[in-house]
Amino acid sequence: MAFPQQFLDELVSRNDIVDLVSGYVALTRKGSNYFGLCPFHNEKTGSFSVSPDKQMYYCFGCHHGGGAINFVMEIENLSYPDAVRFLAKRAGMEVPEDSADRAEARRRQRVLALNKDAARWYYQNLSTPEGGAVCAYLEKRRISRRTAMNFGLGASLDQWDALITAMQEKGYTKAELLAAGLAVQNQKGRLYDKFRNRLMFPVIDVRGDVVAFGGRVLDKSEPKYMNTNETIVYSKRRNLYGINLAKKTKRPNFILCEGNIDVITLHQAGFDNAVASMGTALTVEQTRILSRYTKELVLCYDNDTAGQMATQKNIQLLENSEFKVRVIQLPRRLVDGEYVKQDVDDFIKLQGPAAFEAVLRGSEDQLDFRMEAVAAKYDLSTGDGKIAYAEEISELIASLPSPVEREVCAGRAAEKAGLTREAMLLEVKRARGKLRGKDRQELTRETLNVSAARQPRDRTIRYTDLRSAMAEEGVVRLLFLDGTLAEKCGALPPEDFSSPVLGRVYALQLRAHEEGRGLSPSALAGELSGEEMSHLTTLLQKSENPGRADQALSDYIRIIRERADQRMGRGETDPLLAAMERSKEKKGYGGKPK
Ligand code: UTP
Ligand code: MN
Repeated sequence: MAFPQQFLDELVSRNDIVDLVSGYVALTRKGSNYFGLCPFHNEKTGSFSVSPDKQMYYCFGCHHGGGAINFVMEIENLSYPDAVRFLAKRAGMEVPEDSADRAEARRRQRVLALNKDAARWYYQNLSTPEGGAVCAYLEKRRISRRTAMNFGLGASLDQWDALITAMQEKGYTKAELLAAGLAVQNQKGRLYDKFRNRLMFPVIDVRGDVVAFGGRVLDKSEPKYMNTNETIVYSKRRNLYGINLAKKTKRPNFILCEGNIDVITLHQAGFDNAVASMGTALTVEQTRILSRYTKELVLCYDNDTAGQMATQKNIQLLENSEFKVRVIQLPRRLVDGEYVKQDVDDFIKLQGPAAFEAVLRGSEDQLDFRMEAVAAKYDLSTGDGKIAYAEEISELIASLPSPVEREVCAGRAAEKAGLTREAMLLEVKRARGKLRGKDRQELTRETLNVSAARQPRDRTIRYTDLRSAMAEEGVVRLLFLDGTLAEKCGALPPEDFSSPVLGRVYALQLRAHEEGRGLSPSALAGELSGEEMSHLTTLLQKSENPGRADQALSDYIRIIRERADQRMGRGETDPLLAAMERSKEKKGYGGKPK
């Protein structure tokens, strides 16, 4: 979806950022900028700034930033084209959509309407004799009628095309039924209902649209669950089951569990902050949605090996995020002398909501969970097992920044393995020694290479050549300050940039100048990802001195070209010297400035 650049420029200029943000955040003026409480993370003092000059916002706390379009994408959870439409409407502008886009938008609307009608039909089946089996199943799972209504649960029937017939009567076409994933086609071209004789779970997004369905069998047959595949209105990565209800919770955190029924049982028991990733590992897209509603996640996966693995994976994903993460480890259940898996649904049904509330309050934090995970790897009844355990756990403990925390954890680890506290502390000290050696190396590298703090936060856009990247940032900043400087950039092709993102921005700047128009950073929302946009906003926070722009620009260009020559082995550099330079860099003693 590409909107004409001219339209975007006008769109941005007609939606003043201060005015726009003021609709969501109370702003007060300080100097030339406005400040307020960041809508994207929890805070008590305002680190969210809006610059009327740059027409951009930036949070010094969570480092979200961008222009008007990004702001609307984030705060209204809209896709890029929808955010553009939102702003156009706000400014009373006509959106230049080509007919293909209009047709696409109409198809999406039809599929959403069909999904809603199908959900209504499934729900109404609960009150008919044909829906009796599903009603009985709901009763067996102790899901009340009220809860079923809240979640819009329903019944697909034990017939080949009951839904298709009902929806065709309402005027939906076969193509629409296929597009929604509600009908499938056999080899002979005949359509039949995808979901039959199942308990139906509509998947409803934050905006309240029914985007997909899950369906559970009523017996032990396979597959247990069937889900809508990706469609024009549904992306599995971008949805969480239960988010439509959980987003209204008053609880301070969100509970993340595995299954649809876990979510339902939790809500029914008063934990209206539960959502599920529907059997798959959490995705970055899902964390982005969650971050708009909460800053604390409680992971509550099944207590079997698969659940533990999913928990580990999610912790890794959440490690560098703004979320505080806690993990609930449900106790295993002893049945006939054997421990069996237990999920939240089982736990609440067996022990009651109060017991779960207690677990929730006392839930282990990430560290406990990781310590337990290490312990589980070793057989602590053997000497070898204890030694191996002590070695690994001490590394984990050594990495903790607080000495008190290290003491406490070392004590607990010692107890766990039946070792003395002193021995464990000694082990931790040794691990710390090793770690400090590593730290020192890292520090040297950082100071020589300017500073790690200058790296983009998002790993996918990390700079590979920091010295060049700093100069590239400078060029981009200068060109935003004064587009006509592009005329002095003839000797610098975008390919010489070491950072692909900056190279792209630079190329766009050159093109804008060639076409004789200005380019505001906020008009780039369609060209850059959210992370890239945040990063661009970050680097635009630094200032360039307009008075010596010419000199600065030629310095930057020289540095970028030199570095590019080195990287690509161009120019007159002695190949031996170049190789030495490269090996020095690998060892962490960055190339010396010339
Ligand atoms: P589980 O197998 O843990 O099921 O799958 P559950 O949620 O405990 O279901 P009950 O209690 O037996 O009814 C967890 C989630 O993984 C997805 C579903 O979203 C399910 O809720 N899943 C599971 C599938 O998509 N397909 C399957 O075949 C199984
Ligand atoms: Mn279950």
